[in-house]
Amino acid sequence: MAFDHRKYRACQPIPKPDRRWPDRIIQQAPQWCAVDLRDGNQALIKPMDVAQKQRLFDLLVKLGYKQIEIGFPAASQPDFGFCRKLIEEDRVPADVHIQVLTQARDDQIERSFEALAGAPQAIVHVYNSTSRVHREKVFGLDRAGVREIAENGARRVQELAAEHPETRWTFQYSPESFSATELDYALEVVDAVTAIWRPDQGQNVIINLPQTVEMGPPNLFADQIEWMHDHLARREHFSISVHTHNDRAGAVAAAELAVMAGADRVEGTLLGNGERTGNMDLVTMGMNLYAQGVDPEIGFAGMAEIVDVVESCTEIETHPRHPYAGELVFTAFSGSHQDAIRKTLNQQRDDAYWDVAYLPIDPSDLGRRYEEVVRINSQSGKGGVAHILERAYDVNLPRWLQIEFAKVVQQEAEGTGREVDAPTVHALFQRDYLQTPPGWELKTYDLSRTDEGVRAQVCVGDASVELQGQGHGAVEAVASALQQRYGIALAVEAYEEFALGEGTNANAMACIRVQVDGDPYSAAALAEDTTSATLQALLSAVARRVAAAELDTAAVM
Ligand code: KIV
Ligand code: ZN
Repeated sequence: MAFDHRKYRACQPIPKPDRRWPDRIIQQAPQWCAVDLRDGNQALIKPMDVAQKQRLFDLLVKLGYKQIEIGFPAASQPDFGFCRKLIEEDRVPADVHIQVLTQARDDQIERSFEALAGAPQAIVHVYNSTSRVHREKVFGLDRAGVREIAENGARRVQELAAEHPETRWTFQYSPESFSATELDYALEVVDAVTAIWRPDQGQNVIINLPQTVEMGPPNLFADQIEWMHDHLARREHFSISVHTHNDRAGAVAAAELAVMAGADRVEGTLLGNGERTGNMDLVTMGMNLYAQGVDPEIGFAGMAEIVDVVESCTEIETHPRHPYAGELVFTAFSGSHQDAIRKTLNQQRDDAYWDVAYLPIDPSDLGRRYEEVVRINSQSGKGGVAHILERAYDVNLPRWLQIEFAKVVQQEAEGTGREVDAPTVHALFQRDYLQTPPGWELKTYDLSRTDEGVRAQVCVGDASVELQGQGHGAVEAVASALQQRYGIALAVEAYEEFALGEGTNANAMACIRVQVDGDPYSAAALAEDTTSATLQALLSAVARRVAAAELDTAAVM
């Protein structure tokens, strides 16, 4: 069939002179309901077994979800069994409501009450589809006929609840495919349901307005929610919930705008598993709030555990670029990003608002390490290489050495065509700069001040070769000794020394860049004190020249 856009209808805007939601921001977390064990489970190739359901339920409880839809017991024996297990083994914490889904049919509602028998508190979630396409093409019923299904279901729920007063009941109604239902009709059906349940007389009620299939933009859904919020009878006596799906990749946006438009509650699943493209992702929406300074009231700090449990229960891998949870979402490969991250991360104070380039939130809040923020491939630059050495090895390179060493790393990345991991970066640094060439180890040094400056006496290598020289400082004195000894023109261009933190045997590190006979050589050294480190770096740099000139060290000495 031809690829032809004319077969699709455009969304119609809702005339709304009183639109208020665009001026709002979310200042408080909505009530959350996790539907992983029902909607998420219904969408799996292999639905969860009891052990998987229990593991995911326990995780949801641990994270802080207080409303958890545990299944569709009237339609599934495993779901019925799981519901009974939770209740009979007393596995539901006192502040958690379990919720079960049922169609608005007497037999299903009755079976659902059997599943929930003995629960201290529970939400019975009854639904029927109200959209035009369902009415006309699935049920063959008119508006009144479909409204009656909802009303009958509501009455049966009420009757059965009255027979089981030992449970604190909350009634939830969903006009399934609400977003594809004419607004005046959705209002008629929901008002008919609340006229039976009477939330204004004390019954706990949730009206859940689903975007069963996401067919329009999030702003249109927000308009629908605000319209319902403004027109529903008894509105102040019940919660409006939204349940969005991700067919156009806007489930989170739709839910957020819906909350701005008056919704009190949001249903979704961890990492967005669910029918077709998935349900609204609770992790993303919760973390979006967190990133705006709003407490989501859910603990996402152990993101690795969330990913692990969800993956093992759904048998679906998390995309590496999944917001907040994917392996690569806090990682920069590009040189300019790495440089900006390193600079801004180094300036971030603990007591200040988060203000780091390219990182919308602090990865450590989710248990991620700063080392993983920067990864090196052929696109990377000096900032990234410096970041790796600083964060993982406590090595702070001066800028000139960052530039020089970044070329070494880039060569490696280009040569292998692969990522260069942190141990390899360190090994390359070791190989090209830090390693003391054999026979060039600084054994001892003795510095004395004379009228002409500093006199240095240095023992080098196993043969304990002694060098003597004079200069303004120790480096100059040893450089002059090396110059005389090897007959080279030696100029020290730059050197830097710094103390090291705990965790290494050495206390100091030095980096040096010299010109020998017009050619540049750099080296670095670790030692117990800064002078030893600098002198060793100088010796190593000259040794590189000696090696390059294929001079036989022993012979020269
Ligand atoms: O997507 C949907 O509409 C549902 C309902 C049953 C709430 O899952
Ligand atoms: Zn759904």
